[in-house]
Amino acid sequence: MAIRLKERFGRKFDEEIRFFKGWIDGPKRVGAILPTSSITARRMASVINPRSGLPVLELGPGTGVITKAILGRGVKPQNLVAVEYSSDFYEHLLRTYPGVRFVNGDAFDLDRTLGDLKDQKFDSIISGIPLLNFPMQARIELLESLLDRMPLGRPVVQISYGPVSPIVARPDRYHIQHFDFVVRNLPPAQLWLYRRN
Ligand SMILES: C[S@@+](CC[C@H](N)C(=O)[O-])C[C@H]1O[C@@H](n2cnc3c(N)ncnc32)[C@H](O)[C@@H]1O
Repeated sequence: MAIRLKERFGRKFDEEIRFFKGWIDGPKRVGAILPTSSITARRMASVINPRSGLPVLELGPGTGVITKAILGRGVKPQNLVAVEYSSDFYEHLLRTYPGVRFVNGDAFDLDRTLGDLKDQKFDSIISGIPLLNFPMQARIELLESLLDRMPLGRPVVQISYGPVSPIVARPDRYHIQHFDFVVRNLPPAQLWLYRRN
């Protein structure tokens, strides 16, 4: 029992060190200073319909906490496409989650980044991109490009740390829903859903 606890905390600590290293290399891109908590990750993954027959798209997997929750939701590794900008995180993800279709590239340039998968429809999109570090126009364009890649009504779920939606309302274009406030995340996190009706 003690050994298992030690292993578990050891792994968690490794993850935090890796995350912190990523933060030192690119604080603006990594955004938060700690990995997402597993509670938050599971809450985000709960929007997935694993029986839709469509793959899931994850943006900014970082150390893979949310990736793990998505797989835990019953999505097969080959049905998960995950776009990570940092080559260091990308290499680590490839080793840790075999079978997942990781792409090392920019989520703000998705057509190019996804290559052959650029016309693929996804069941849902789970995003850990630190949106607040990017200009509002880029955030809106990213969201519109994500909504184009899902059947009508399916959600993008986004984690953020500010009190309001990181993307401004445009009721003629998309619908915003506050999904959760996870106090047990460090720092406490807000979850937002975006969809077209
Ligand atoms: C706040 S971290 C979240 C990471 C992960 N959810 C976790 O908790 O470990 C943001 C992640 O988004 C990635 N990222 C930032 N900008 C990106 C972009 N334009 N395209 C793809 N990934 C990006 C960063 O490299 C980092 O891994």
